Amino acid sequence: MNHWLETLRWYADMGVDEAVADRAWNRFAEPEVRPSPANQGRPLLAAASRPSPPASPSTPPSATTSPVPPPRDARPAQMDALQPALAAELAAIETLDGLRDRLERFDGCALKTTATNTVFGEGPAHARLMIIGEAPGEEEDRQGRPFVGPSGQLLDRMLAAIGLERGEVYIANTLYWRPPGNRTPTPAEVQACLPFLRRQIAIIRPQALLMVGGAAAKTMLERKEGIMRLRGRWTEYDPGGGAGPIPALATFHPAYLLRSPAQKREAWRDFLAMQAYLLASRD
Ligand code: URA
Repeated sequence: MNHWLETLRWYADMGVDEAVADRAWNRFAEPEVRPSPANQGRPLLAAASRPSPPASPSTPPSATTSPVPPPRDARPAQMDALQPALAAELAAIETLDGLRDRLERFDGCALKTTATNTVFGEGPAHARLMIIGEAPGEEEDRQGRPFVGPSGQLLDRMLAAIGLERGEVYIANTLYWRPPGNRTPTPAEVQACLPFLRRQIAIIRPQALLMVGGAAAKTMLERKEGIMRLRGRWTEYDPGGGAGPIPALATFHPAYLLRSPAQKREAWRDFLAMQAYLLASRD
């Protein structure tokens, strides 16, 4: 029998039903790449090991110009069609402070009534990387800041491992208020917050988005697949308002990694891909 057919049949027998990369990858030949004290806190990679930059800084990475796979599955977000009046009002807001003020006056999400604080998000107004989580937890609700609990501490360490300090990155959530008892938010609660998040992204206009966890990835990408399928794939997110499509990557939520440390290896791969992209697209 043909060698290729035999290989395909063997893959099928082994339960392989999806190609996750464009090229075959010999994982046995792969060098171990781990965060080490030597690369922590450094501004991304040393110059000698940088990938060549893409043809244009504003062009999303392609297989020929950088080690990062090209964006796939790009879809513009649909929310403007669902809440046109609010989206139009928010589109006129040009600053994060203005958006925060409007959010404080917004009564369209019942979670606000049970939360202690609004967790608007924090970071530089024009951060190159924006991270989007699901919802504030107990500690975030108490402090009014995103990712300050145990998963936030892991997130900080993961950022440091690719040479980024927390203060260089903008961090937000798909929800601005903690669901009581950390319950799963309803679709209506998520949809109520989304116009604000979209405007927040459009104002910041980061060079890349990192969605952490299945909930954030599904909300942003309007996909039904779980994080196992969505993570590690480049896509694009268009927040509207003329910001244009932004390269976006999904990865595991740090809270999940705390429960399932074996998955850190995959998350590390995603962080390295993000690091390579940010280096390649640096002005
Ligand atoms: N988990 C999230 O998704 N966001 C936070 O801000 C904290 C924990």
